[in-house]
Amino acid sequence: MVRIRRARLEDVPGVARVQVDTWRATYRGVVPEAFLEGLSYEGQAERWAQGLKTPTWPGRLFVAESGEVVGFAAFGPDRASGFPDYTAELWTLYVLPAWQGKGLGRALFQEGARLLRAESHRRMLVWVLKENLQGRGFYERLGGVLLGEREITLGGIKLWEVAYGFDLWGQRW
Ligand SMILES: CC(C)(COP(=O)(O)OP(=O)(O)OC[C@H]1O[C@@H](n2cnc3c(N)ncnc32)[C@H](O)[C@@H]1OP(=O)(O)O)[C@@H](O)C(=O)NCCC(=O)NCCS
Repeated sequence: MVRIRRARLEDVPGVARVQVDTWRATYRGVVPEAFLEGLSYEGQAERWAQGLKTPTWPGRLFVAESGEVVGFAAFGPDRASGFPDYTAELWTLYVLPAWQGKGLGRALFQEGARLLRAESHRRMLVWVLKENLQGRGFYERLGGVLLGEREITLGGIKLWEVAYGFDLWGQRW
C-alpha cells in the first residue's frame, strides 16, 4: 500500500535518499561520475528541510510513502524559463528504481497538478535532460508538449535539457 501525500519535515531524509539514489541510477554515464559521487544525502536533506521550514517557501513537496519514502515530487512557480504562459513548474520527480512502473510517477504528478490548478495556475512545464529518454517517454505519455531546449552546465560539462508543457485544465493525464 503506497500513500501519496504532502511531505513533512520528518520525510526529508527519505526524500534525500530517493533523490541521490535515483540520480545515480538514472544519470550514470550521462552526468560526470564525480558529480554523482559528490551528491550527499545530508546535503540534499538540508536543502529540502530549509524549504519546508520557511513559511514563504513557494515549493510544494509530495511523497509516495510505503512505510518509507519511495518517490517524491516538488512543484512550484516557474523559475524564469522564458515561457511566460507557464507560471508553474514541476521542479523534480523521482521514483526509486525498484518502485518504477507501478503508477507512482503518475500519481505524484496528478497530486501536484491538482494543487497547482487549485492555486489558479493554468500551465506547468518541466525541464528534463535531453538524454533522459525514460523521463521524456513518461512526460510524453502524460501528454507533455515539447516547448524548447536549453544548454546547462552540470558537473563541469555542458548538457542539453528539453522542456515539456502541460495544460493543467486539460487533465489528459
Ligand atoms: C520518470 C519516472 C518519474 C516515472 O515514474 P513511474 O512511477 O516509473 O511511472 P508510472 O508507472 O507512473 O507511469 C505512468 C505512465 O507512463 C508510462 N511510462 C512510464 N515511463 C515511460 C517511458 N519511459 N516511456 C513511455 N511511457 C512511459 C507508463 O507506461 C504509464 O502509462 P499507463 O499508465 O498508460 O500504463 C520514474 O521512472 C523515475 O523516477 N525515473 C528516473 C528519474 C527521472 O527520469 N525523473 C524525471 C526527470 S526529472
